[in-house]
Amino acid sequence: MRYLTFALTKGRLAKKTLDVFERAGITCEEMKDPASRKLIFVNEEHKLRFFLAKGPDVPTYVEYGAADMGVVGKDTILEEGRSMYEVLDLGFGKCRMCVCGPESARELLRHQELIRVATKYPNIAKDYFYNKRHQTVEIIKLNGSIELAPIVGLSEVIVDIVETGSTLKENGLQVLEEIVSLSARMVVNQVSMKMENQRIGELLRNLKEVLAE
Ligand code: PRP
Repeated sequence: MRYLTFALTKGRLAKKTLDVFERAGITCEEMKDPASRKLIFVNEEHKLRFFLAKGPDVPTYVEYGAADMGVVGKDTILEEGRSMYEVLDLGFGKCRMCVCGPESARELLRHQELIRVATKYPNIAKDYFYNKRHQTVEIIKLNGSIELAPIVGLSEVIVDIVETGSTLKENGLQVLEEIVSLSARMVVNQVSMKMENQRIGELLRNLKEVLAE
């Protein structure tokens, strides 16, 4: 039997994913060693391999089949637009993709003004403003600390992830519009889904049972 390979999003999502696997009776002790610099981990019993990658790279590994399956945020799935199957909502990593800004920006949105939108998610922002809102905007790509943009005058609004809302609150910003709800999802390579249908189906049934507990 060949190994089924999993690409996990480094950080909190990977930790929570491994917890779910563990509850399904699939453990990977060597992955828990925080001092380890190893990149790939094996569970011999179930013939599974796991590796950690940056979120936006997970869909890339899965589309090309370097990983049969992956766990990644819905935000990254939407932003990367890769060809793969989304098969399971893991129910953790829950948050929302929102248009945020100072209260004063509400009017600019209402009047469909030509505003600047700073974001780490240019494709999601483009789709929302162009295809859903039919509003022409200027998208400015940033790589982090997006909340800074309206404060220092780089943009009028931002498109960003809101979890607890405390980052917005502490910076005097608000949710102006909600774009989509997000959470961690399991994704599968399209060829793997056909070639390993039985194993993947069984694994998904196991995981779903654990998630329903
Ligand atoms: C994310 C997001 C917000 C914050 C939202 O940033 O971009 O800034 O978390 O969380 P909250 O609603 O609970 O405050 P992250 O910490 O991932 O880092 P980044 O700013 O580098 O994107």
